[in-house]
Amino acid sequence: MIDIRPYRESDEEAVAALWREVFSAAPSWNHPETDIQRKLAVQRDLFLVACCEDKLVGTALAGYDGHRGWVYYLAVSPTHRRGGIGRELMAHVEKSLAAIGCPKLNLQVRADNPLVVAFYKKLGYTIEERISLGKRLDVLSTEG
Ligand SMILES: CC(C)(COP(=O)(O)OP(=O)(O)OC[C@H]1O[C@@H](n2cnc3c(N)ncnc32)[C@H](O)[C@@H]1OP(=O)(O)O)[C@@H](O)C(=O)NCCC(=O)NCCS
Repeated sequence: MIDIRPYRESDEEAVAALWREVFSAAPSWNHPETDIQRKLAVQRDLFLVACCEDKLVGTALAGYDGHRGWVYYLAVSPTHRRGGIGRELMAHVEKSLAAIGCPKLNLQVRADNPLVVAFYKKLGYTIEERISLGKRLDVLSTEG
């Protein structure tokens, strides 16, 4: 039985451990504990965890910017994959975003993670021809 619920402070250690295991190749600036704290300050109700018999086995971190919804850190523990947890997490994310008026959900997949595309296609997502650009803003807060 899978229970999907909003993140609680007591989940921090388990979430950080899951992310370190699942996203072991993540860039060095993705620091789990820092990312958790940042998310708790913004739309924390859109930070979901999946639990199986009281063990935390999945996460999804979503947000709505007033135009599009986004999801990050969708992760299911390797020991619990292919049992529908990822699908269920995404269904909760979609329902939560739709409930606050979000018309469309976007997500990015790293180029070195092509297998996950098959998962998202199963859930009805399509590849959109876009170029993804980014710029770090945390340096601005340290500039005089
Ligand atoms: C992607 C991920 C969340 C999927 O979780 P999961 O619980 O195993 O997925 P589900 O069991 O809900 O699968 C849903 C559907 O996708 C399919 N699917 C899941 N993983 C797949 C894969 N690697 N390749 C092909 N199809 C896949 C399943 O067969 C299932 O289809 P079905 O309902 O017709 O049987 C999980 O593999 C994961 O944590 N991956 C590493 C982290 C990651 O890459 N996250 C995404 C960041 S963008």
